[in-house]
Amino acid sequence: MSYQSITPGECAAKLSGADRVVVVSGAGLSTAAGVPDFRGPKGLYVTRAYDPEQVFEIHGFDRDPRPFYAFTRDFLSLLGTIRPTFTHRFLVELERRKPETTIITQNIDGMHQRAGSRRVYPMHGDYETAHCRGCGRGYEGSEVEAMLEHQEVPTCDRCGVAIKPDVVFFGENVRHFNEAQSLAGASDLMLALGTSLTVYPAAMLPEIAGGEVVIVNQGEVGMRPRPGVFLADANLDEFFQSVAAELDWSVEE
Ligand code: OAD
Repeated sequence: MSYQSITPGECAAKLSGADRVVVVSGAGLSTAAGVPDFRGPKGLYVTRAYDPEQVFEIHGFDRDPRPFYAFTRDFLSLLGTIRPTFTHRFLVELERRKPETTIITQNIDGMHQRAGSRRVYPMHGDYETAHCRGCGRGYEGSEVEAMLEHQEVPTCDRCGVAIKPDVVFFGENVRHFNEAQSLAGASDLMLALGTSLTVYPAAMLPEIAGGEVVIVNQGEVGMRPRPGVFLADANLDEFFQSVAAELDWSVEE
C-alpha cells in the first residue's frame, strides 16, 4: 500500500471541516528560517556539524557537557537572528480561527511560541528553564544564557556541577506525553509537518490519531501508510501558502 497524496486544495477542505486540529511539528518547520534539521539533506545527522549522538545524549552530557554547550552557543545566537516561517504564522491564524488547535512540537527553538501560537506542547523540552545535574537546583534559561558569556559550561553556584537546559535528551523522558496522547486520540484532523516521524514516542502520535492525518514533509517518513493518512511530499511554506489562498485567509507578517 502506498500513501494517498493530497493537494493544498484538499487539505484546505479538510481544515474547513475540522475543529480539533492537532499539529505534530518537527525540525522541517524551521529550515526555511535557517535552522538545520536532523535528517534532511543539510541535517545535523548528515553534515555532522555537531555530533548529535554526543550532543543530545544524557550520559554523554554527564561525561562531558562541552559539545552540547558548543552547539547551544551557536544555536541560541542563531535564534536571535531569525524569524518564524510562513508555516509558523499560518498555524497562528489556524488557532485564531479554530481555538481548539494544539501544537505538539519536537522542536526546541521556541518558534511556534514566538510566532504567537498559544496552545503549544514542547514534547522535547526547551531552553526556558534549566536544572543542575548534581543537586537539581532550578535556573531560568536567561540565567544560563548570561553564564554562557563567561563560562564554557554553566555550573551550579550551589554544588558546582554542570547545569543542563530542560531540552529532552536521548535517555530522558519526553514532556507532555499524556496530554499529547489524549489530544491525538481526540483530534478530528492531525497535521504532521516537517518531521521524518522516526523518533518515538512523538512518531507514534499519527498512529493513534482519532481522525484523518495529513503529513506534509519533503522526503521519506517513518510511518506506514494506512487508510485515512494522506501525504504531500512538498515544501511546507509553498504548500501552506496555497492552502491559505484556497481558504482565503490572510496570514500576518
Ligand atoms: P528530522 O530532521 O528527522 O525530519 C525533518 C524532516 O523535514 C525531513 O524529512 C526533511 O526532509 C523535512 N523538511 C525539511 N525542510 C522542509 C521544508 N521546508 N518543507 C517540508 N519538509 C521539510 O526532524 P524531526 O522529525 O523533527 O530529538 O526529528 C525528531 C527528533 O530527532 C528531534 O526532535 C531531535 C532529533 O534527534 C532530540 O533531540 C531528542
